[in-house]
Amino acid sequence: MPQLSRTGVSLEDDLLKEFDRLIARRGYGNRSEAIRDLIREALLAGVVESNRPVVGTLTIVYDHHVPNLAQKLTEVQHTAGAMILAATHIHLDHHYCLEVIIMKGRGKDLQAVADGMLALRGVELGKLVLTNSGASLKHATHAH
Ligand code: NI
Repeated sequence: MPQLSRTGVSLEDDLLKEFDRLIARRGYGNRSEAIRDLIREALLAGVVESNRPVVGTLTIVYDHHVPNLAQKLTEVQHTAGAMILAATHIHLDHHYCLEVIIMKGRGKDLQAVADGMLALRGVELGKLVLTNSGASLKHATHAH
């Protein structure tokens, strides 16, 4: 367990009330964990912005009846090479496939790989989530 420091934050009453309503809806037991998560999110955004290595999951839903689409998706992944760690494919129904692609690399490179797949005709939904381990966030503010 890392050492904890205590800090105080001054907030307008209305802002604090809204924050308490928000964290209650999200199921937080107390403000501290909610504030820690907000800080982690902000630090992660800094890592992504600075283009340092992160991991990413790209979820796409596509119509496998669109000609050559499956082949084009495979080509994008082969071009990305070692950035692709794993991919899982599920046949959702007669038309649609769901694929989750797990990647590792610099944020901008992962975004480019994702954009290459999302722009293909027949890919109807998709979202890239970039993340990182909490441990590496500790170094997020260091300059490299
Ligand atoms: Ni399928």
